[in-house]
Amino acid sequence: MDKFYITTPIYYINGTPHLGHTYTTVAADILARWHRIQGKDVFFLVGTDENSQKVVEAAKKAGKSLQEFTDEMSSIWRETWLKLGISFDRFIRTTSPEHINAVKIFWERVQEKGDIYLGEYEGWYCVDCEEFIKESDLDDGGLCPYHKKKPDILKEKNYFFRLSKYKDALLEHIEKNPDFILPVERRNEVVSYIKNHLEDISISRETIDWGIPVPGDENQRIYVWFDALINYLSGIGFGQDEAKFSKYWPADVHLLGKEISKFHCALWPAMLMSAEIELPKTFFVHGHWTSDGQKMSKTIGNVVNPIDLMQEFSFDVVRYFLFRETPFGSDGDFSIARLKERYNSELANDLGNLLQRTLNMIDKYLDGRIDEEKVALYSYGLEQAGVYLENFKFDLALQEIWSAVSHLNKFIEEEKPWELFKNNEKEKLSEVLHRVYAILKEIVYFLEPFMPEITKKMRELLEKDRISAPDTPLFPKKE
Ligand code: ME8
Ligand code: MG
Repeated sequence: MDKFYITTPIYYINGTPHLGHTYTTVAADILARWHRIQGKDVFFLVGTDENSQKVVEAAKKAGKSLQEFTDEMSSIWRETWLKLGISFDRFIRTTSPEHINAVKIFWERVQEKGDIYLGEYEGWYCVDCEEFIKESDLDDGGLCPYHKKKPDILKEKNYFFRLSKYKDALLEHIEKNPDFILPVERRNEVVSYIKNHLEDISISRETIDWGIPVPGDENQRIYVWFDALINYLSGIGFGQDEAKFSKYWPADVHLLGKEISKFHCALWPAMLMSAEIELPKTFFVHGHWTSDGQKMSKTIGNVVNPIDLMQEFSFDVVRYFLFRETPFGSDGDFSIARLKERYNSELANDLGNLLQRTLNMIDKYLDGRIDEEKVALYSYGLEQAGVYLENFKFDLALQEIWSAVSHLNKFIEEEKPWELFKNNEKEKLSEVLHRVYAILKEIVYFLEPFMPEITKKMRELLEKDRISAPDTPLFPKKE
């Protein structure tokens, strides 16, 4: 049986999930569901990144112990994904013993390889980025260009990873594997970063006391990124359950946002090369969502909370919107007004009415009964939607599905089943309705990974022994 291993970034837990995190997680969920439907043995990993300095600061602010704070926050993230119906197989925490053990093993392998050395780091560190920053990368006012905050100045003994040693190997791998980093704009950025800026990187901190201790040197803590990336291995049993690990590794897809592509597409593969572990197959790097034209920010107060959205729209509708509105990979702007517009026209009108009237007509004209042999005669040929889906072209997959929806609405208008009924053209009437029914089922099949809850309801309605339309339509119009 083919396997499919997919991951999202493990999110920092200094705050709660917003629509941006939800976006990546839903994208992974769509792919996981699709590959399960295709009969693959899917492993879908999510989790939380807990050994960071920002967590220490957030815990302090909340007046909680680190243990209490990380337990509480991590469970908020987990519960959120559960409430949203995310079909993950494992939730990995970087404070868990399995993960800590995996990181130690990994560190030792890289050390044995001779790729870790002791040096001195002198320079800037932005806690919000959890990143060492070069003087030349600060803005004119000496601030972190992303967070507009003055970074910390550090001068300390650190362990370094020989990242620069892997420059040629990385470039060669990227060149030979066109699907290694997608989409191509992001690949080009990473290539240019590797060519021009790849340097050895500090992978430990001396002046903090939260994080995984460096094996053999308890005065040092492993740098949060070196630790966090290893979740992709520890989450499937690296260092613990070799059978499981070798079953799922290498990852088929790592999904991530564009602000962390350097860590994923350069540092991570170099770490794996050093540890002599096979590289993941594909990194898909997507864009950022703004909200009503502005970056989602807690200070601006425009953070969209996915659980709040569910008060007004079922989460499937939000899923639909996110992946219909903007090509996966590009930036997008979220607005409730746009969501409502698409809901009313594409879901309530196009799809909802199609379903409601089809169920009604089958009830009225065929006594609610469908002949499966006749159903098997018809199909629209939506396979291309599946191909788009597998290639991360979610918007095109949905467009393809909606072309079938429009086709059916037009077909019904043209064939006018109500007139066939009036004229007693039974044969033709049955043919028309079976055709509509068959294609509607096909639509449900391809729509399922995007809208798992609603398609489940649609399927239940379409598969009843005696078909009839529900009193309230599945997609009631919104004012
Ligand atoms: O970077 N639009 O965690 P993080 C789209 N712990 N996606 C967004 C987004 C937005 N506005 N905001 C966040 C970290 N995301 C590390 C990862 S992995 C080994 C360690 C999504 O909490 C997107 O996937 O800052 C982005 O890359 C991720 O959340 C960053 O989450
Ligand atoms: Mg971030």
